[in-house]
Amino acid sequence: MNIQPVILAAGQGKRMYSALPKVLHHLAGKPLLEHVIHSAQAVAADAAPIVIFGHQGEEVRQALNSHPVTWVEQTKQLGTGHAVMQALPMIDDNAQVLVLYGDVPFISVETLKNLITSSANGMAVLTAHLSQPKGYGRIVRNQQHHIISIVEEKDATDEQRNIQEINSGIYCIPAKYLKSWLPQLKNENAQGEYYLTDVISLAVKDKVEVNSVQPVHQEEILGINDKVQLAALERIYQQHYAEKLMRAGVTVLDPARLDIRGHLQAGRDVVLDVNVIIEGNVTLGDGCKVGAHCILKNVSVRAGTEIKPHSILEDATIGMNCVIGPFARIRPGTSLANEVHVGNFVEVKNSALGTQTKVNHLSYVGDSTVGQRVNVGAGTITCNYDGANKHRTVIEDDVHIGSDTQLVAPVTVGAGATIAAGSTITKDVASQTLTLTQRLEQRSLKDWQRPKKQS
Ligand code: UD1
Ligand code: MG
Repeated sequence: MNIQPVILAAGQGKRMYSALPKVLHHLAGKPLLEHVIHSAQAVAADAAPIVIFGHQGEEVRQALNSHPVTWVEQTKQLGTGHAVMQALPMIDDNAQVLVLYGDVPFISVETLKNLITSSANGMAVLTAHLSQPKGYGRIVRNQQHHIISIVEEKDATDEQRNIQEINSGIYCIPAKYLKSWLPQLKNENAQGEYYLTDVISLAVKDKVEVNSVQPVHQEEILGINDKVQLAALERIYQQHYAEKLMRAGVTVLDPARLDIRGHLQAGRDVVLDVNVIIEGNVTLGDGCKVGAHCILKNVSVRAGTEIKPHSILEDATIGMNCVIGPFARIRPGTSLANEVHVGNFVEVKNSALGTQTKVNHLSYVGDSTVGQRVNVGAGTITCNYDGANKHRTVIEDDVHIGSDTQLVAPVTVGAGATIAAGSTITKDVASQTLTLTQRLEQRSLKDWQRPKKQS
């Protein structure tokens, strides 16, 4: 079947009270509209979805310009029927039009496939039975249980308002029918809009079969109108993700306090403590532990590594059995070999650290290549920036750097060298030497007295 998705996204989203267009608000780290585009692509790989945009269209297009989408403007929002009509000139007569909403982000591929299948001999609408149907269009059926119309809440009789089967607003309709029905729509209703829902009565008149399908999960049809609903859907999404991880063997200490804004691939016996945030693509090997309040963005971590609380890692690769944190910051371009320790208040940027190297306390390692079994003492700083350019520091294997050392790059410390505490290293250091810079003589004054507090 030739499926053409049409995503309605021209509504203003007034109730968000936001400068950002509604469909650009993020759910799980991604604009709402992007979720819908992904589902559309999954059922119609060959057809670029058509997105009907209106308010702040340029901003929406810019934000999603990496996606193969056909953008169609609806300058005035005259209703859902009018919105779909804007897309008709670009749609092939043989296509099946799949109507989606840009603010209904959970719609699943499985549900859409069911909808498409059931439209084969006519058209299909996605409906649901809700105990609280308020606000939705109601599905009106005849005695034979066939759908005969959809009536909007504002136009419904009291009796119709009691109907609990609602219209999700998602349909699969052959283009050839839409091309005949949409021009016939009238806006003589409570909202003065051209309702897409009125095509149902036209289908009945033309004896086109109107089938209905229910979503696999009820939340799939939930739309977002305000920030309360946005937050509620975020939690539903996160709960599902956490369950998926737990079913695959990950220990999630509190599924209500985990946020995956991207993809997490985790091995066996991975433990995630509370308030972990995962962004982009993250891989955690078997047995990795991530402590409370850590943020991991685009990192791959090999088996057995422990990331202690309050650590932030971004665009980095971490080897096996490393220990990172608490309070460590691993910045882009960093790679740690196996068994590396990066301790508290240590920042590592664009640097490679060799096997068993330790930087345990209060240090900055930037633009550096550090060998194996190096010990970097507390308070060591690579001075990588001269105010105009960045320079590299090279520290070879088995070097011992005393506390409070400054390494003024570009500089190389040869293998096995020792640098005494408090040194400022401005020249290359030869291997196996002890290097120290001029120190002030240490003096102690015997007759000195501590000041006393004046009364
Ligand atoms: C619509 C349905 C209703 C259904 C409900 C489900 C109609 C007439 N009613 O009502 O039966 O129960 O969705 O949520 O279709 N949009 C445009 N251009 C427009 C108008 C709307 O792009 O001119 C877009 C909106 O951005 C939104 C979607 O269409 O994504 C639905 O519009 P909305 O006004 O929310 O429709 P409802 O009144 O909720
Ligand atoms: Mg409306």
